[in-house]
Amino acid sequence: MNIIHFKILDSTNAYLKRNYEKFDDFQIVSASHQTEGKGRLGNIWLDDGNALLFSILIKREIKMESVAQIPLLVAMVTHQVLLPHIPDLKIKWPNDLLINHKKLAGILIETISSNHEIQAIIIGIGINLYSTEFHPSIQETATSFLLETNQEISSSLLMEEIVKRLEDELELFKQNQSLFITYCKKYSSLLGKEISFIHQNKIMHGIAKDIKDNGNLLVKTSHAILEISTGEIHLIK
Ligand code: BTN
Repeated sequence: MNIIHFKILDSTNAYLKRNYEKFDDFQIVSASHQTEGKGRLGNIWLDDGNALLFSILIKREIKMESVAQIPLLVAMVTHQVLLPHIPDLKIKWPNDLLINHKKLAGILIETISSNHEIQAIIIGIGINLYSTEFHPSIQETATSFLLETNQEISSSLLMEEIVKRLEDELELFKQNQSLFITYCKKYSSLLGKEISFIHQNKIMHGIAKDIKDNGNLLVKTSHAILEISTGEIHLIK
């Protein structure tokens, strides 16, 4: 396993984005702390030095139409590795891992493409391991492995297990693309629940009904069934 570790870095995703040409498929970059951690939809990912933060560079061939499914595949793999320690762990579409509605882990997938061809995919994973307090902006919505289990876990073994499993699953992914969708549905925190989301610049409400084989979420509103491919979803408790 090719791992480069930094004590401090702006962002492991940003580092691989800048340097992807120098590295081979499955290069891993990890950091003890990020000064500009990136989240989905332009959000920032905050850490206090107590999280597992790493990114994986994918340079093997992946078809453009399969990219939308990668977030769910990565969510499944990360969930499978953590589930034996945290039986209540849920997947919030597309790829947050939650315990009792609080976020334990986030995943950010970025693609580098030119001429409609994918040059590389960067999979960034952040897992809150030992934090007991969080920045006020996420205090109510974040949790950590330690807070939930009262146990410690080896961050390097955890990372290695996720990477190994991901390598295996990417091989299977070429043949059977729907297995991981079934898995994500089984552990979904959203399906059957009332949610709010932004669609065409409007805040909408509906019931999360299904995850399609293409990875999109189907939501039933009072007027229609909508297919959502991205965005921030809020559960209405
Ligand atoms: C999200 O929840 O919005 C996604 C968070 C992804 C955070 C990880 S931490 C390692 C990698 N480097 C980054 O800058 N972001 C991802």
